[in-house]
Amino acid sequence: MHIHKYEKWWLTFGISSLVLFLVIVGFSAFHYGSHPPSAKVYVDPERVDEIAPFNNPGVHKVEGKDWDYEVVFVASAFYYNPPEIEVPLGSTVKFIATTKDVVHGFQTAGTNINMILEPGYVSEYVTTVDKAGEYLILCNEYCGIGHSSMTSMLKVVE
Ligand code: CUA
Repeated sequence: MHIHKYEKWWLTFGISSLVLFLVIVGFSAFHYGSHPPSAKVYVDPERVDEIAPFNNPGVHKVEGKDWDYEVVFVASAFYYNPPEIEVPLGSTVKFIATTKDVVHGFQTAGTNINMILEPGYVSEYVTTVDKAGEYLILCNEYCGIGHSSMTSMLKVVE
């Protein structure tokens, strides 16, 4: 009788803990997501080169948006496409980036541009470039043998 009671108690406790655990996990997943916070849209990493806007990497002037330029980057081991970009001083720029293979970083030295690029997701960052100069874009997520040489260059010109 006693043993049976204990078993029942533990069973109830076990199930309650499991339910609580699932609720917490579900809640967290719902709120924070399992993808990077800067990433919004899903893109098939196998078909990145065919899918807009990634079929056309580079700087694109846009009209009627909250930003003046859209800069499209495709990352893969161990380089960024394009390897260099140029935008006019004072313009508002939307960076749109993804990766074709593993996780890469996208940090721009001397600016607040810092994204994580995860295969399957589109990462975006909008900023106004208000200081002329050359800014090194570098990968800050270890991605393999060529990680430390994975760079691009942002040129802000007057
Ligand atoms: Cu790409 Cu490290």
